[in-house]
Amino acid sequence: MAHSQRKILVTSALPYANGPIHLGHMLEHIQTDIWVRFQKLRGHLCTAVCADDAHGTAIMIKANNNGITSEELIDGVRQEHMADFNDFLIGYDNYHTTHSEENRELSSSIYTALKEKGKISVRSIVQAYDPEKEMFLADRFIKGTCPKCHAEDQYGDNCEVCSATYTPMEMINPRSVYSGATPIEKESEHYFFKLPDFQDFLAKWTRSGTLQDQVANKLAEWLDSGLQEWDISRDAPYFGFEIPDAPGKYFYVWLDAPIGYMASFKNLCDKTDGLEFDEYWSKDSDAELYHFIGKDIINFHALFWPAMLDCAGYRTPTGVNAHGYVTVNGTKMSKSRGTFIMARTYLNHLDPQYLRYYFAAKLNNSVDDIDLNLEDFVQRVNSDVVGKIVNIASRTASFINKKFNNTLSAEVAEMEMIQSFIDAGDVIANFFEQREYGKAVREIMRLADIANTYIADQAPWVLAKNADTLPKAQEVCTVALNLFSILATYLKPVMPQLIADAEAFLNKELTWENRSELLFGKTVNKFSPLMGRIEAKQIEAMVEESKEAVAEAAKEGTNAAVAEDSELSKEPIADEIDFDAFAKVDLRVALIAKAEHVPKANKLLKLTLDLGGETRTVFSGIKSAYKPEDLEGKLTVMVANLAPRKMKFGLSEGMVLAAGPGGEEIHLMEPHSGAKPGQRIM
Ligand code: MSP
Ligand code: ZN
Repeated sequence: MAHSQRKILVTSALPYANGPIHLGHMLEHIQTDIWVRFQKLRGHLCTAVCADDAHGTAIMIKANNNGITSEELIDGVRQEHMADFNDFLIGYDNYHTTHSEENRELSSSIYTALKEKGKISVRSIVQAYDPEKEMFLADRFIKGTCPKCHAEDQYGDNCEVCSATYTPMEMINPRSVYSGATPIEKESEHYFFKLPDFQDFLAKWTRSGTLQDQVANKLAEWLDSGLQEWDISRDAPYFGFEIPDAPGKYFYVWLDAPIGYMASFKNLCDKTDGLEFDEYWSKDSDAELYHFIGKDIINFHALFWPAMLDCAGYRTPTGVNAHGYVTVNGTKMSKSRGTFIMARTYLNHLDPQYLRYYFAAKLNNSVDDIDLNLEDFVQRVNSDVVGKIVNIASRTASFINKKFNNTLSAEVAEMEMIQSFIDAGDVIANFFEQREYGKAVREIMRLADIANTYIADQAPWVLAKNADTLPKAQEVCTVALNLFSILATYLKPVMPQLIADAEAFLNKELTWENRSELLFGKTVNKFSPLMGRIEAKQIEAMVEESKEAVAEAAKEGTNAAVAEDSELSKEPIADEIDFDAFAKVDLRVALIAKAEHVPKANKLLKLTLDLGGETRTVFSGIKSAYKPEDLEGKLTVMVANLAPRKMKFGLSEGMVLAAGPGGEEIHLMEPHSGAKPGQRIM
């Protein structure tokens, strides 16, 4: 089956250079790497580039907190990221940084092109400003009390308790999270990309087969409601590139981040003979371009990015491939449960190929989330990879080594079965091409079952005991090892090291094309065990270490491992209070006499609490975790002397105590058994 060689450029989203790679990121890099290795294995000219996303306020602040320069921070993090990817067998052809000369030049020239086309507008906007740190504050860097429901400690754009949206200056007692200072309002000039001018272009582009249907439908909603101009500038101090002819103004990190894909490729072209930048990026390019990204950054890649590229005279992507989020054991990765697992922590305990296999088995081309269930992970990898694939070789190889001087039979009777394994390659290739890795893996395992059944039926270990049946034993093992080599070819994109070891044993470099060149009359090398089983205790140790890593990071106080975890980082330890202040909190046992839904409220339930004679109404944000009817008649604990607060839905006279990360995982505090309503706690 001759085919022409495709020229393909592939990227993964550029990880932020302010924290370590975790298993969520790793899903994306594994998805990309499998696709790239598959294309290479098929003989295409496929190039994969990535880089660290090195700009922005978060990086600047973190460097500052660590007492180092932003450059020092991003260099160190980039080294760690590269080591993580390398050890996970992710083979980028280039791993660059957005803080590079190539990126500075490309960003400037693209911006200049947009400006020359009249697609940049300039106007003054008023923003919150930290007078102590002398910098503008994005909404999420401001906290304060919700102007609607008076919930404390809310972000500058919306309230997590009553879902109200507002501007930071509308908050009660707003303060900068950097300095604690009260922000002031300050005006400054900003630069905008005129996205609304691309409405028609984008309406077409998003429906041109470049996106998954799910994604195109979602974007259609945005497009229908009208596009806004995109603010692409930030004021100094900012770690990034200064905008040409606009001193003190910097490109917003999301302007130069996707250009970082081009810059990384440019950097590779400059050191690689025969790789031409223009062949891949010019409007008339015949190369394919794919971006693998998470579902959270679709608008940047499927709206801003194609509009910028088209306007600046470049080609647009052939495909933007979005994936879902990784959950662990069915819920969001959680630091306290030890399921917020860093790539390095995983590597300290387990072979990366286990995870590559497991993610492959679960991946499809939708944006649905992918659950890493740790029990299922152990079970599935052990039974599929070790029990099915490796088993084919380990049950037959030693006979060829010991009884037949490493030599395979010159011919065999089972050609039909072997041919069916070869033919299945077309279906499997199609699945890989479509990013339906789960379907590819299922087909491979179906074939592995056939191979194992064949071996069990033929029982070469019995045949090998008897001189008359010895040639038959050699033949059976020859069939088995040929089946093994075909399946190994199919799994090569998923488990590159395992298959490299198999190739060393088989004496053959496997490619998709040469899977039909069978190993008859050939010699193999000495077989050594290819891959062991996962032990439950390895998982336990990894989870334990993940918990410790969190504790460590929390102590340092600046680690992005913590900063990234919304549950922990959103809540810095509050100002110290003395014991007297603490002792003033009057905690009482409360009987939930009534629990009701609040019309239009997303998070709140209305509770009627009995304090042993006295009745209180309390609005509590526990709707996601409890059904009202399950609460009635239960005892809980409330702060009984909290000043009543007027909320959107009524007056709240106190507060019930609950713990948990949110969603279904909120647990109302329960008092001791035998507690009586109204009883004081402590
Ligand atoms: N720097 C931007 C991307 C710029 S691309 C021009 C960014 N960085 S990130 O580090 O936050 O995320 C990098 C990628 O990892 C994104 O595609 C994101 O969707 C993905 N993931 C981050 N956490 C994830 C999970 N828990 N699960 C799956 N993917 C996740 O966004
Ligand atoms: Zn509120």
